[in-house]
Amino acid sequence: MLRPLPLLMAVLLAAGCAASGDDDGGAQGTGGTGPITFATGRDTTAYLQPLLDRWNQAHPAEKVTLLELPEAADEQRAQMVANLQARSSQYDVLGLDVILTAEFAENGWIIPLERGLFPLDRFLPPVVETAIYKNKLWAVPYTSNAGLLYYRTDLVDKPPRTWAELRDQAREITKKRKIGGYAGQFLAYEGLTVNFSEAVQSAGGELVSRDGTEVTLSPSVGATALGFLLQGLREGWIPQESLTYKEEESRLAFQEGRLAFARNWPHAYGPAKAELGDKVAVTRLPGLNGPGSSTLGGANLAVSAFSKHQQTAQEFIRYFTSLENERRVLTEGSFPPVWTELYDDPELVERFPYLPVLKESILAARARPVNANYNQLSLVIASSVAKALGNPTPESAADVAVSMKSELEEIIRTQ
Ligand code: GLC
Repeated sequence: MLRPLPLLMAVLLAAGCAASGDDDGGAQGTGGTGPITFATGRDTTAYLQPLLDRWNQAHPAEKVTLLELPEAADEQRAQMVANLQARSSQYDVLGLDVILTAEFAENGWIIPLERGLFPLDRFLPPVVETAIYKNKLWAVPYTSNAGLLYYRTDLVDKPPRTWAELRDQAREITKKRKIGGYAGQFLAYEGLTVNFSEAVQSAGGELVSRDGTEVTLSPSVGATALGFLLQGLREGWIPQESLTYKEEESRLAFQEGRLAFARNWPHAYGPAKAELGDKVAVTRLPGLNGPGSSTLGGANLAVSAFSKHQQTAQEFIRYFTSLENERRVLTEGSFPPVWTELYDDPELVERFPYLPVLKESILAARARPVNANYNQLSLVIASSVAKALGNPTPESAADVAVSMKSELEEIIRTQ
């Protein structure tokens, strides 16, 4: 059972006052308790309802209803934005992709929260950063995410550490076994931005500075990163079909034995293990000259500025991000928790042997740029890369890297 909100806070919320102070960044709240709706991306591992039921049993007057948004990150954003622009009170708690904090805060769609109410110092530090914008806390970390390389232990002797090793092994397996060598999320959407950012980082570069103010992409690194994917498509060890893959399609392709290697998030591990047993393992993403670097993913929980039950929404967030619930997020949902100590828990490590690799990957992961127009930057990245993947000639890599850079610069210049 959680402690109730401190009395003073509860009084301030109920009175509709804004609590302020240097440290809490001017947290506000218009109070209100009652039933709430939790809007979040599709529950692909079907774990959420039992966790919500626990809250509902203990809070009969403040029940939470799950509202599942689409699976793809871009579509989730579109639906939330439409709702919030209409100032609708339909959503109370938002399961917000880590890339959305700046945009939602800047538009006044979510409320700042009081830092002292959440055990942030026990969460993974880079994950907490994703919830902070202009020195205020706008959401509470809920799940983290880092990309991993899934591979088939029955087909691979030694997991690859570099792109060259991955390419050689994937090429050979494709030839011998007539299955796909490697795939990630290559459809034109946020997942492709993630995959391409990882390729750029894993070649030692960066697309846009972390503070979102400067395009730092070097066209030659961009061309190298693209070149790796284009070569795979030309030579056939990246199957053509992967140009239609989001997370779920690539998960299925791997667990159904149609791929030797796949880039995916950790939530694909549980189902892959159930299908393939000991024939599946994960390792860090490979890079140009050694281990690569993942893009930092994940979701934070925010309170809608238009919610009529903001006090309940905050209490619910405290419950849902508590240590007890976060353990279930991992054991029942296969999602990476945000509490640091869970990654070192011997019982969990035994059950999820990839936890140490995952922790390392999260701590080494790069966050996507913080920019209220992040969505526009990402659309340029994903559509440019999709264009190159559709025409995988070596020249296309260089051309696309140059035009992508200037389009990104244009967005940052005119915002
Ligand atoms: C995962 C990540 C999220 C990312 C998305 C891209 O859901 O957690 O941060 O934007 O994948 O498809």
